Amino acid sequence: MANYLIVGGSSGIGRALVDLLLQDGHQVHVWARESRDLPATVSFTAYDVTGEEDPPKDQLPDALDGLVYCPGSIDLKSFRSLKAPAFREAFDLNVVGAVRCLQAAERAMKKSGAASVVLFSTVAVQRGMPFHAAVAAAKGGVEGLTRSLAAEYAPVIRVNAIAPSLTDTPLASKLLSTEEKRQASAERHPLKRVASPDEIAAMAAFLLSDRAAFVTGQIMGMDGGLGAI
Ligand SMILES: NC(=O)c1ccc[n+]([C@@H]2O[C@H](COP(=O)([O-])OP(=O)(O)OC[C@H]3O[C@@H](n4cnc5c(N)ncnc54)[C@H](OP(=O)(O)O)[C@@H]3O)[C@@H](O)[C@H]2O)c1
Repeated sequence: MANYLIVGGSSGIGRALVDLLLQDGHQVHVWARESRDLPATVSFTAYDVTGEEDPPKDQLPDALDGLVYCPGSIDLKSFRSLKAPAFREAFDLNVVGAVRCLQAAERAMKKSGAASVVLFSTVAVQRGMPFHAAVAAAKGGVEGLTRSLAAEYAPVIRVNAIAPSLTDTPLASKLLSTEEKRQASAERHPLKRVASPDEIAAMAAFLLSDRAAFVTGQIMGMDGGLGAI
């Protein structure tokens, strides 16, 4: 049994990952603003990663085997209407929030002796897409953070990121709110569909596990082929 912290484990991909980890018998800790429908076996702490409060590191176990940071944004607007605060907000949520959680958990992860970190980027870093300037700039920061920390934390802690394309979660609900939008999004992908939270969560669970023990510093594209074909 391992101890994992899922920041943003109350919805979408993070919530699907919580279920997978519980099924495998792990102890799961979740930090998010709301607990929603998390099972009682999860250790939940209310925490806003963009707030004034320091991360609740006293709630962590002595040794932590992995941390997954899920909070993220999709603020799609023309570059002209994306003002500086929108870029700051995206950076704060996607990068600075992750930095704070990672620094809070560093000692416990080092104590585990072989911990794994999973961060989230987006296909819009690899492939230029209109209206994605704020999220692409922030997630580009996440990819840089991933490689820097993979170098700095090796060989004790592995650090990887997943770069999904459109995934059917509450975050993407506006983009998938009608059958027409869903169909148009599916058509843009070589694999002709959008992703399910379960399949993205399965990659996160793999990266956390010992089966990925030789994988670090990688950005795993999970985008139905959109980023490469
Ligand atoms: N869905 C997509 O199409 C898609 C595509 C590309 C990349 N991604 C990336 O994949 C990751 C997961 O996305 P998702 O679709 O699963 O998102 P989601 O359904 O919105 O879930 C996000 C989770 O983060 C938590 N969270 C959000 N803001 C927070 C804050 N300020 N403090 C603490 N917790 C916070 C949410 O809980 P609370 O609201 O209760 O705090 C929730 O548990 C994100 O980084 C996203 O950018 C998603």
